[in-house]
Parts: sequence; structure tokens; C-alpha cells
Amino acid sequence: MNRITLENLRDIENDPRYTFIKGDIRSPEDVAKAMKGCDSVVNFAAETHVDRSIHEGGVFVDTDVHGVFVLCEEARRQNVSRFLHISTDEVYGSIAEGHFKETDRLNPSSPYSASKAGGELLARSYFVTYGLPVLVTRSSNNYGPYQYPEKLIPLFTTNLIENKPVPVYGDGRQVRDWLYVEDQCEALDLVLQKGTVGEIYNVGAGNEEFNLDVTKGILKLLGKREELITYVKDRPGHDRRYAVDTAKIRALGWKPRHDFAAGLKKTVDWYVQHEDWWRAIKQKQADYKAWIEKQYGTK
Ligand code: TYD
Repeated sequence: MNRITLENLRDIENDPRYTFIKGDIRSPEDVAKAMKGCDSVVNFAAETHVDRSIHEGGVFVDTDVHGVFVLCEEARRQNVSRFLHISTDEVYGSIAEGHFKETDRLNPSSPYSASKAGGELLARSYFVTYGLPVLVTRSSNNYGPYQYPEKLIPLFTTNLIENKPVPVYGDGRQVRDWLYVEDQCEALDLVLQKGTVGEIYNVGAGNEEFNLDVTKGILKLLGKREELITYVKDRPGHDRRYAVDTAKIRALGWKPRHDFAAGLKKTVDWYVQHEDWWRAIKQKQADYKAWIEKQYGTK
């Protein structure tokens, strides 16, 4: 997929423990090649962007449901000892007050979150039916360095660096719980090592923010004017608020180490210092340009 760049892995390219294999999780041959001899599998692979799923839902079903099926089949053949599947808090849908527990019903709103719900249910069915040692995490909104600039924080940060407007959907009073990428990684590592197979773990930092406040935070860090905020038509089926109860993963010994203000500053600074990285995506990747064109018109 052209949305992945090997640049992201430059820091570890000389580490002998790491091998890069380019493949597609929908291809049984690619998956068999990549999984050969592995004791654990962690599935991060997914189509993840809600707005894209509204325009092109088919690839979400292919990757986020059928791709998981291909992975589970091969994991079963390989007899892996752990299979960690990364899911999302979006499978619960919106919650006006309180926090979703792992036992709450799934009520996804978008083709993206419905596909993710399908994928994780399928993975868990391999635990129940075949005893595949599946673990599932449902994480809140991630942010941090290297995030593809279609998501709120990197899109707005890079637009503002370029003095371009930032498109806030609806009234901007939707709430997301922002989880710094390194906190997410620590949570996943812990679940992989210590989680109970067959179980689901919510992961969230408790950093609940209105989109508009996140936007103003980025403007302030970059010293930009609020006139760059443009209110645009709301996303269809837009979930108002996501919030998860994290008692279960906290009982395993995890807690987030980044508060939102510090994490946001670190992230914005990273994009300021890595213009080459994101400009290469925004200017050169046909996939990105076509997407922005479709979503917001030319920007
Ligand atoms: P996003 O980063 O797409 O994550 P998700 O939809 O998975 O939560 O969006 C985060 C929030 O920001 C969401 O409420 C939609 C909103 N948003 C905008 O207002 N404008 C934008 O251009 C984007 C990409 C997102």
C-alpha cells in the first residue's frame, strides 16, 4: 500500500531482529511467507480512516474483515502462541455520558468501525472455535509522530504550517480521548505478554477533548490565527463522543505516561521538524492528493 513509507522504519533498519516483508494481508501467500516461524502475531494492518470508509467502504471490508480471516487461518496453521488483534473504541459507537466497558454491546456507526467490529468478532471466533490464542485491544484515538496526515492532528498541524485553513466538521464539539502512540505501544506490549487469551482490553488515556479545543491547541503551539479555522459540513453518521473504561488494562499494570498538553507539543514539534516527511506524502503521493481532492476540493 502506498500509504506506508519505509522512511518510518529508518531508525531500526540495522536491527538484526527486524525483517521487512512487503505484502497484503488479503493474500494467503504473502501472509504465509510473513508468518513462517513466528510465535506471536500482532495485527496492526487495517484501513483506518472513517472519512475514506464513507467514500470507499469496499476496501475496508476486504482488509479489516477478510484480511483478518486470512491472518487467523494462517495463525491457526502455524500454531502461534499469541495473536493480538488491534481494534478500536469506535466499535462501541457514541456514548453521551460514562464509559464503555469491554462487555458492552457493539454498535458501530461507520463502514470503518463496522468492518473493525466484524474483524475482531471473527478473530475471537477463532479462539472459541479453534482455540487460537487471540487477544483484542480496543484503543482510543492515537496521535504522535509519523501519523499519516489524513487524521485530525497531523492534517491540521501540517495545514497550519503551510498557512492553509483547517476544516472543522460541524460545531467542533465532538469529543475524542487522545492516546499518545508510545502509551498505546506499551499497552499493546503488556497485553501481548500478560493478557489472558480470549479477552478484550480497552485502552484509553482519559484525555477527553473537544475537537475545537484540540484545533485551538495546535493553532496556539504554531502561533497561528483562529481565522484559519473553517467550519465545514459535518461527517455523516459522526459519533459525538467516545469514552472507554480502562480498569481492566490498568489492573494488568498499565497507565498512560503522557498528558495531552505535553504529547500534543511533542507531536506538533515533530511535524515542524520533519517537513520533508509529510511534504513528500502531501505533494507526491497520488493516493493522498486524490483523497484530499475528493474530501475537501483542492487545498
Ligand atoms: P479522525 O482523526 O479522523 O479520527 P476518528 O474519526 O477515528 O475519531 O477525527 C478525529 C475527530 O476530528 C473526529 O471527530 C472528526 C474530526 N475531524 C474534523 O473535524 N476535521 C477533519 O478534517 C478530520 C480529518 C477530522
